[in-house]
Amino acid sequence: MRQDNVINSQIHPAAADETGKSFDPRYLAAKKGIDDKALNQDVWETLRQALPQAAGSEPVNILEVGAGIGTMLERIIDRGLLTGLATYTATDSDPGQLGAAREYLSQWAGKRGHVLSWFGEHHGRLRTASADVSLVLGLACAEELADRSDIPGPFHLLIAHAVLDLVDFPAVLPRLLSRLKNNGLAYLTCNFDGETIFLPECVGDEEIVRLYHASMEARLTGASHTGRRLLTFLQRPGLELLAAGSSDWGIHPRQTRYSMDESFFLHAIIETVEREVAKINNPPSGLAAWARLRHQQVEAGELSFLARHLDFLVRHHPSLP
Ligand SMILES: C[S@@+](CC[C@H](N)C(=O)[O-])C[C@H]1O[C@@H](n2cnc3c(N)ncnc32)[C@H](O)[C@@H]1O
Repeated sequence: MRQDNVINSQIHPAAADETGKSFDPRYLAAKKGIDDKALNQDVWETLRQALPQAAGSEPVNILEVGAGIGTMLERIIDRGLLTGLATYTATDSDPGQLGAAREYLSQWAGKRGHVLSWFGEHHGRLRTASADVSLVLGLACAEELADRSDIPGPFHLLIAHAVLDLVDFPAVLPRLLSRLKNNGLAYLTCNFDGETIFLPECVGDEEIVRLYHASMEARLTGASHTGRRLLTFLQRPGLELLAAGSSDWGIHPRQTRYSMDESFFLHAIIETVEREVAKINNPPSGLAAWARLRHQQVEAGELSFLARHLDFLVRHHPSLP
């Protein structure tokens, strides 16, 4: 047991496991409400207006990459984005997420009074008062989705939420966009953009945050500035950038308290920063003390946290030059 990560006999889970590839479903569930607050309203409203609705027996077809436990489908239904028939193909490269998504979505549907029936392990049908969604949970890497004939398209909407900083998007995104119908939409959200801020400021912040961002770069060049790189990339020929805007995470205590999800999320972020920085050669000697202090500040309701992200909505016009 690593004593430095134990506060009040509690071990804090990180956002992902030691490999950084398998995200903790509890972290993704806690992140949902924080993302809800952060998502850019203008980009969402533009999506609402631009997304075609089902015409008669023709469903609206949606493909999500890196879907995790399915919180974006939950959000889309809760916010009334879909009416009538739809298909929703939620894919992820981590097989553990598919089982977690089935469980998470079943619980959510039960709470909302929706009917979610499963056929086999990965096919479902979600019926709400206004939408009838045929749901597929698919094991797929974003990199190979363009070639997967078992995931039928074309799609009206592609969604990638909090995932494009994990893939080589200049190579992967054009291939994903090829799965869209002519004039199809891509809703690309929660793209990290180079700022992580813990408040109040304390000794070691600057170096630890710099090394944390450097660890993202070591994993994938450019990852720590995915947001601004996308802003340029999405203005290339064949794409029409319909909306763009900030979707920063912002958490602060209210009367020295957080919601349970906020508290879990903050501990997970601190643990993740510590773990990633500890992996480098010669990590700063004050790293464990920094993390201990930050965990204590969460317990005391004293920590605020900000992280910069950008959201985008683009239309794909493959016939344009
Ligand atoms: C930060 S999580 C976000 C999950 C979900 N979109 C959310 O916000 O709750 C990133 C997700 O992308 C998945 N992922 C990572 N690399 C991927 C890849 N190359 N192709 C597809 N999914 C990937 C992970 O398994 C994980 O579920």
